[in-house]
Amino acid sequence: MNNKIIIINGPNLNLLGEREQSQYGSTTLEKLKDSCFTKSKELGLDLKFVQSNLEGELVNIIQDSRKSYDGIIINAAAFTHTSVAIRDALDIFKKPIIELHISNIYKREEFRQKSLISDIVTGGIFGLGSDGYILAIISMEKLLKNENK
Ligand code: DQA
Repeated sequence: MNNKIIIINGPNLNLLGEREQSQYGSTTLEKLKDSCFTKSKELGLDLKFVQSNLEGELVNIIQDSRKSYDGIIINAAAFTHTSVAIRDALDIFKKPIIELHISNIYKREEFRQKSLISDIVTGGIFGLGSDGYILAIISMEKLLKNENK
């Protein structure tokens, strides 16, 4: 059976392509989603791709993921820097988690340089643009394959 992964996108990522192109590039979330599905299919992963602007909804999605998914890739966007609730929900998920950021948060404003989730995730990708999504899928596939060895 294929491993199941979920890519969770936080607030304002629905406006990729429109917001701050200098940070986030011109790709839309829809296009990104298509590329993620193509890569996942190629690697034999079943993918769910979600976005929400609501913190509580993201917490619910993360909680529910522990029953249905083998790995989480998360771009928590602004909630990365503020949400203890999202951190706590991720901490309950006892399987691989990849933290993802399109921009290099450590090169930006001071308030973005702190991630509340970095110390509880398996690994992270930042500053590589929207390609980071594809790299995260490749890494997740390897993590899950090694787990099942
Ligand atoms: C982001 C970085 C966050 O600081 C910001 O709030 C975002 C996107 C990124 O992908 O680079 O919305 O997570």
